Amino acid sequence: MLILTRHDVESLLTMPDAIEAVEAGFRQLAAGAVEMPQRLATTIAPHNGIHLSMPAFVAGDPAAGDPGTLTIKMVTVYNDNRAKYDLPTIHAVLLLHDARTGQPLALMDAEHLTAMRTGAVSGVATRHMARPDASVVTIFGAGAQAGPQLLAMAAVRPIRQVHVVALGDVSAFCARMVKQLGAPVDAAADVRAAVEAADLICTATNSPTPLFDGAWLRPGTHINAIGAYTKTMRELDSEAVRRSRVIVDRRQAAQVEAGDIVIPTQEGVIGPDHVVGELAEVVSGVVPGRIAVDEITLFKSVGLALQDAVTAALVYRRALDRGIGQEVTL
Ligand SMILES: NC(=O)c1ccc[n+]([C@@H]2O[C@H](COP(=O)([O-])OP(=O)(O)OC[C@H]3O[C@@H](n4cnc5c(N)ncnc54)[C@H](O)[C@@H]3O)[C@@H](O)[C@H]2O)c1
Repeated sequence: MLILTRHDVESLLTMPDAIEAVEAGFRQLAAGAVEMPQRLATTIAPHNGIHLSMPAFVAGDPAAGDPGTLTIKMVTVYNDNRAKYDLPTIHAVLLLHDARTGQPLALMDAEHLTAMRTGAVSGVATRHMARPDASVVTIFGAGAQAGPQLLAMAAVRPIRQVHVVALGDVSAFCARMVKQLGAPVDAAADVRAAVEAADLICTATNSPTPLFDGAWLRPGTHINAIGAYTKTMRELDSEAVRRSRVIVDRRQAAQVEAGDIVIPTQEGVIGPDHVVGELAEVVSGVVPGRIAVDEITLFKSVGLALQDAVTAALVYRRALDRGIGQEVTL
């Protein structure tokens, strides 16, 4: 079995490549080539944690000698980690099997992988849903997911200005992202002004309650909402969702995990048809991502095992090609 550390994964993965891999994965989902049960959530109530088991099989092309990709990611989300222990909110490992035999092939750190594949799916959504000239971003959150979210939006749109809204001091985050993006990144002085100025909004926080007033959104804005992951958590208020053309990563997952969609539905603010489609339908051309230049579009992601599988397969292929990683016998 090949062991790949976080450093290995970082050295093998770029955002543009992750975006292409994830988009191809969603095309395979549309084609019915992905087996992906709803993820299993185990609640660790005394420690405010949750453990998610996320398996997926993505069919290959047997004629071309590709048996497909079989993975499971095990991820924990502990929202008190930063404040209590100065540890990341998310820890994750991924096991890649030989799809032909079930034999384990690789075990890799999946913290960076998670942030990259979560960025990548926002990159795919932004590519298909945002206005082509979208260039001003407001991002909520400056944690582990935030950087890759910005890199992904910058990979598909000409980003020239970023405003950051988060708790605490964001100066180190801004300085790091200026270097990576080559564009100004500042701490937003005023949340309302930052929302009103944005062509692209990304919510990447662990806030359980709405981050801004949906009435502030400017026509034509695109939102990637990636933070909330339970029925009772939401980053957007009902007005933001009501005003938006909504695409989700998967309806089945959004119905059980996305408070951003579930709560406005329970309130009667949106109906069952308000979600116009899934990302797989958008990338395969069945549902348009955007119809009018002045509509507000919203992509809500809770995260799918498919994203992990296709990104891990890319990392594994590159590790073999470049001789990276450590072989162990279990
Ligand atoms: N959709 C997906 O596939 C996916 C993948 C990974 C993580 N997530 C979720 O994304 C969220 C962020 O994860 P992370 O790893 O970056 O966490 P993190 O702890 O590293 O960062 C959280 C950030 O949210 C900010 N924040 C919290 N409350 C806020 C508020 N009211 N206003 C503004 N900023 C606020 C904090 O200041 C911090 O910068 C988590 O809820 C996580 O579960 C989703």
